[in-house]
Amino acid sequence: MEKTTSIHGMWSSRLMFVLAAAGSAVGLGNIWRFPYLTSDNGGGAFVLVYLACIAVVGLPILIAEVLIGREGRMSPINTLRKMAREHGASRGWVSIGWLGIVAGVLILSFYSVVGGWTLHYTWLYIKELFGGAPLGDPGLAFRSLLGNPLELTFWHAVFMLLTTGVVALGVEKGLERAVRFLMPALFVLLLLLVGYGFTTGRMGEAAAFLFKPDFSRISGGVFLSAMGQAFFTLSLGMATMMTYGAYLPREGISIPRVTIAVALTDTSVALLAGLAIFPIVLAFGLDPAGGGPGLIFNSLPLAFESMAFGTVYGLAFFGLLAIAAWTSSISLLEPATAFLTEKFGLKRRKLAALLLAGLSWVVGLLSVLSLNLWNDVRVPADVNVIGGKNIMDLVEFLANDLMLPLGGLLIALFAGWALDRKILRGQLSEMPEPLFIALRWMLRVVAPLLVLVVLVRAVI
Ligand code: PHE
Ligand code: NA
Repeated sequence: MEKTTSIHGMWSSRLMFVLAAAGSAVGLGNIWRFPYLTSDNGGGAFVLVYLACIAVVGLPILIAEVLIGREGRMSPINTLRKMAREHGASRGWVSIGWLGIVAGVLILSFYSVVGGWTLHYTWLYIKELFGGAPLGDPGLAFRSLLGNPLELTFWHAVFMLLTTGVVALGVEKGLERAVRFLMPALFVLLLLLVGYGFTTGRMGEAAAFLFKPDFSRISGGVFLSAMGQAFFTLSLGMATMMTYGAYLPREGISIPRVTIAVALTDTSVALLAGLAIFPIVLAFGLDPAGGGPGLIFNSLPLAFESMAFGTVYGLAFFGLLAIAAWTSSISLLEPATAFLTEKFGLKRRKLAALLLAGLSWVVGLLSVLSLNLWNDVRVPADVNVIGGKNIMDLVEFLANDLMLPLGGLLIALFAGWALDRKILRGQLSEMPEPLFIALRWMLRVVAPLLVLVVLVRAVI
């Protein structure tokens, strides 16, 4: 029997779902990670592969996740358990839910550390606005933050508490409020920064770096990074979108339409971030290649320093980035919290959120320490794919580049093969038949095969 509501609450409208799902998608992945991966992976070639992954693999799996959620109406584990039982499929599919919970805790662990960086910068600009010392040399400021484990741990804790607070309050009270006004504000601010990019006279060069692929740079590693980033940026492969889909009303809401809106929003924010950041990088004589995780922190403050009202812009930018990260971290914690809440009973949602966030915070301390005291703890340089990575890089690699694509692959197979065609069709009733057939084969064969090839090619 299909349920029409979820015990965890429901989105109050289609717009609320799109805002919440876009709030989950748009985050550090777009503004921190996409530019630095582009920088480290040779520019246009990476961007091209990334865009292809979004269209060919990401979008179909996004549709699959949301529809599985809307069909099951529970946390991912219980949704999959129930659906596997009803469709006579193997109970093994439940592992998708477990994989998602582990990936969620791992991703949240470093996501919260980086979220903490954005809070720290927001605080620096608040102080500057009230007459405090200016940030000074951005490279130095960033290095001194990373070199200070206590400071990092403090902001990591603040960020994690903010996340826990919203998730503890539940869907309607917590999640919806956070996204209504802040996402559009971030978008406008990015547009302003792109406008600033034009005034530097380096926009043409920046666009060429982003969009003129140097095919000699394409390798198995570039494919793996681009694929991992496609999953990460769309919040795919760990059942986040499945969980959000469980709170989506059925009447009059077309899943393909809402998911396309989410994917387009996410992709445009990433590209805008690229167009905002690279002109600044070039104009201030930084190297667009090999920027690493510090890229935006080392470059953007240079622009804010030279702009009229730069302190206000800096504050607005890092403040909104922190909020964008917040609406994503909420969605990292929600699937596991929904599951524990189903286990402990509905009155224990706060406890469930607190336990999981606490666990993730502790794991995050490994990332904190890998930036300073344990900076030398690295994988030997000659190890394939992961050579030279520190602990934080390794967690990121394991979760983003391996677990998310693997989770996505299983979700595609589940939707394509285990799920009754009638159920799939019913959830996608608005889709014209030829498109539906195409989507089903994307899920059955094309997407899983592509993910598999990329994973295997990169590892061997
Ligand atoms: N999509 C988010 C971002 O781009 C990160 C995220 C990944 C959120 C997985 C939820 C699940 O920042
Ligand atoms: Na994103």
